[in-house]
Amino acid sequence: MQYIRNTVVLTFLFGLLTACVQNPVDLVRGDLAIAPMPANMTPEKGFFHINRDTWMQMDSFPGTTFDPLAVFHEVFLRKSGYQIPLVPKGQEQSDAKHLILIVKSPVQDDPETYRLSIKPYGIIITAPTTQGVFYAMQTLRQIMRIDALPDREQHDRSWVVPAVEIRDQPEFAYRGMHLDVCRHFMPVDFVKKYIDLLAYYKMNRFHWHLTEDQGWRIEIKKYPLLQEVAAWRKETRVGHYTDEPVEYDGTRHGGYYTQEEIREVVRYAAQRGVVIIPEIEMPGHCLAALAAYPSLACTPGPFEVATTWGVFEDVFCPYESTFTFLQDVLDEVMDLFPSPYIHIGGDECPKVRWKESAFCQELMRKENLRSEEELQSYFIRRIEKYLNSKGRNIIGWDEILEGGLAPHATVMSWRGMEGGIEAAKAGHQVIMSPGSHCYFDHYQAEPDYEPLAIGGLTTLEKVYSFNPIPESLNQQEAKLILGAQANLWTEYIPTPDKAEYMAYPRAIALAEALWTPPSKKDYASFVLRLASHLERLDGMGVRYAQHLRVPLAETRSVDKGLEIVWQTPLPRQTVFFARDTQTKAWSSVMTGDTVLVSESGSMYYKTDYSSVREIKYVPSKSRHAVITAIPVPHQRYPGGQGLKTLKDGLTGKPHFNGRDWCAWRGAPFILDLDFGELTSVDSIILGVLSSPGSWIYPPESVEVKGSSDGLNYQTIAMWQGEMKNGRQDITFRFPGSEVRFIRLLILPVRTILPGKPGAGQPGWTFLDEIQVF
Ligand code: ACM
Repeated sequence: MQYIRNTVVLTFLFGLLTACVQNPVDLVRGDLAIAPMPANMTPEKGFFHINRDTWMQMDSFPGTTFDPLAVFHEVFLRKSGYQIPLVPKGQEQSDAKHLILIVKSPVQDDPETYRLSIKPYGIIITAPTTQGVFYAMQTLRQIMRIDALPDREQHDRSWVVPAVEIRDQPEFAYRGMHLDVCRHFMPVDFVKKYIDLLAYYKMNRFHWHLTEDQGWRIEIKKYPLLQEVAAWRKETRVGHYTDEPVEYDGTRHGGYYTQEEIREVVRYAAQRGVVIIPEIEMPGHCLAALAAYPSLACTPGPFEVATTWGVFEDVFCPYESTFTFLQDVLDEVMDLFPSPYIHIGGDECPKVRWKESAFCQELMRKENLRSEEELQSYFIRRIEKYLNSKGRNIIGWDEILEGGLAPHATVMSWRGMEGGIEAAKAGHQVIMSPGSHCYFDHYQAEPDYEPLAIGGLTTLEKVYSFNPIPESLNQQEAKLILGAQANLWTEYIPTPDKAEYMAYPRAIALAEALWTPPSKKDYASFVLRLASHLERLDGMGVRYAQHLRVPLAETRSVDKGLEIVWQTPLPRQTVFFARDTQTKAWSSVMTGDTVLVSESGSMYYKTDYSSVREIKYVPSKSRHAVITAIPVPHQRYPGGQGLKTLKDGLTGKPHFNGRDWCAWRGAPFILDLDFGELTSVDSIILGVLSSPGSWIYPPESVEVKGSSDGLNYQTIAMWQGEMKNGRQDITFRFPGSEVRFIRLLILPVRTILPGKPGAGQPGWTFLDEIQVF
């Protein structure tokens, strides 16, 4: 803490002698560690003092019910023990040099813009809207470092604020975060805190995912069974949903928000400039509703609120009565949420039940629908028409493109950016939320050392690097990209603490990626500001992840062995490493520096902020081979060093990612190894992954061929078989062979079997590594 105690001893003694409750004044020094980085900021000389002499005056902003000072006043009172008076025009008594003046500027293009001038003689805030004023106050709040301080209502505090000139506005209009309260119910207080943090980082949309297979969380008065039945599940799957054996916790879980609570959260968000976009999922992800009202399904049921994760085949059946139900639900939703947008889901809706349903097939004939995808579009269009008639627009996940897009729909692109590109090219508005950068349920650091997550690896830097505008769009199309949001799905996030751990600090990186102009984005500057923000997050009681100083080991296979570089977001951190933990002979290195490992064995490392970790290096003869593949690996999982990843002496971990693994999808492929000269080979060990829950299967067969000339190949080994889940080795033994070329012919699972996750889709094949001995 950097308080400057300016307690004058005499004053203090005088205070004691007069037995007055006159406490010492803490002088708090502010800084310019603002996040997101303002669009324009020029530090100036001098300081402004905020203390008991300070007063405020604000122009009126006709037509708004949003008090842009309320949050600031609340925080200020809590931290300082006094209030800055807001003095009506004409009642000025104080000295103008202690004034914070808020002026309404003419309305401009961007309603969120603001100007904040901190001069030694006063502060002037200029903005066209209360939203702009609110953001100016958040910036001032950050500059004051007020949130870094403990609450001390009894004591006076006084602030020294550096002079600065800020002209700021956001790059994107839609800056959002999503929260899934269905997989795990989150209490109202936490939802409010989540919104509070969004607003602090100038995000303006909260996507509240309210209905799911595993629980319905919004009170709908017309349908009481949604509260009695759909809001509760009897138990919950334990561990990752690909784990075996399957285990359940035996504990009933659930809850829902009353309409009164929802109104309160909507009001709370509005006082922070945050619009809440409710999501009511249809036609899929609705098993909880079907458990309450089975007549909405194509088959009779009964159904049970889901207790495990994934995609379920029982979905809403497009009966007239289903539309009536959904319209009734949406009527109550619209009454609660003033948002111009209602999210209607639309993702991951299997068509199995519709294919089997005589009703659906007849409806398709009647409506001239050629496929079940078109039936889904019919479904979404009807709902869109209803919502449009009430003055609202729909947002849907990118699957709503599949059978033809509803006329006015906004597309939320989650399966990469492609859906968003297609929608923008068709003239539709888009919100980007690709898994690659925006799924905060992914790991943020090495999975082996993290609490359980769904998979993936989305580091702070990756989030920061996000640009929602794809290169393939022209200027006109790019204007349709409203912005982006991160999604926090909570299958593996049972508590508010873990939700904060997954969301922060990545949400701040996203906030900056969406607010700050690309020319001003600078990851190094961001990280330094973020280090300063951790004390603000501490002060706000946020249980963020500690990865600023925890290293991610990056490896590179080189001629002499394996190069390791440890990276932390915060530069120049000390990492301790040892080849042997028994001797405790730790050497140290700074992050960013390279260490070479030339012999096989383990490398252990740690920091003051992390436990001991291990890199197991086992190079083999494949190290000297040139590897080629036909076709090359899938672009999503090309291997961190391309095909070299397959021979870098490191075996892929069960938590798959595109760094450690190379992957192919659905079609046969060939891997060729050329050793450059005749080489004696006794065995090959091929590392493969089996994770059916993630659509990853071992190959159906692998054939090993050898050749001395690269023309004539002979089969030397063959594998076909079953495999346990997880990372497994396929071992081929053929002692005494002499070859220059080895060819692996790999047949993957072409189509995932019915009843399995991803049924009907091409299976993934993940490989790492190819060890040759
Ligand atoms: C999604 O992640 N299923 C939108």
